[in-house]
Amino acid sequence: MALMDIIKHRHSIRSYLDKPVERDKIMKCLEAARLAPSASNRQTARFIIVDEPGLKNQLCDEAFSGVFAVMKFPRKAPVIVAAVGETPGLAHRAGNIVLRTNFGLIDMGIAVEHFVLQADELGLGTCWLGLFDEGKVKRTLGIPGNKKVAALLTMGYFDEALALGEHNRNNLEGMSSFNGWKLA
Ligand SMILES: Cc1cc2nc3c(=O)[nH]c(=O)nc-3n(C[C@H](O)[C@H](O)[C@H](O)COP(=O)(O)O)c2cc1C
Repeated sequence: MALMDIIKHRHSIRSYLDKPVERDKIMKCLEAARLAPSASNRQTARFIIVDEPGLKNQLCDEAFSGVFAVMKFPRKAPVIVAAVGETPGLAHRAGNIVLRTNFGLIDMGIAVEHFVLQADELGLGTCWLGLFDEGKVKRTLGIPGNKKVAALLTMGYFDEALALGEHNRNNLEGMSSFNGWKLA
């Protein structure tokens, strides 16, 4: 599929078929994430794949407990992916403060979206998840305290007949201009 077709085809999928995901497909997604660019080529993105049903259910119980209990659909996904970055060390924290940015999170966004787009090309649906109990995710998966769980993803096969419709997005005029800021 051409890149633009994949971009248009990808939607957040919140309903999954009860069908396991092949490891070789997951490895292709990981390879796409591995090739993502990162600031100073630091390559700090790490991915924990949870496809063992018992652990996945335990992870969902923990991640989506308390105020996060509204998140019901991830439990139905056959795979949960934890995208883990680094909490910046002193030098990078200083750099982030001076530049008023967070390169670590930018890097994570790029790597995760590489993963997501590759998944789509392989016929797999995903959904980014930002609402979860990070501390409990770390404890469940044994992720060291100095790491940052930037996002979780659900992943799995889905019914391609789902009417996903057009993406609800700003139009191009609303989000871009040439040769200077000419936006509202
Ligand atoms: C960083 C990030 C966090 C998100 N967190 C959640 C979430 O916690 N729960 C959820 O259902 N969707 C979540 N989403 C999915 C967005 O709601 C979705 O991408 C957006 O509505 C656009 O829809 P689309 O992905 O189908 O194009 C998240 C997306 C991103 C990029």
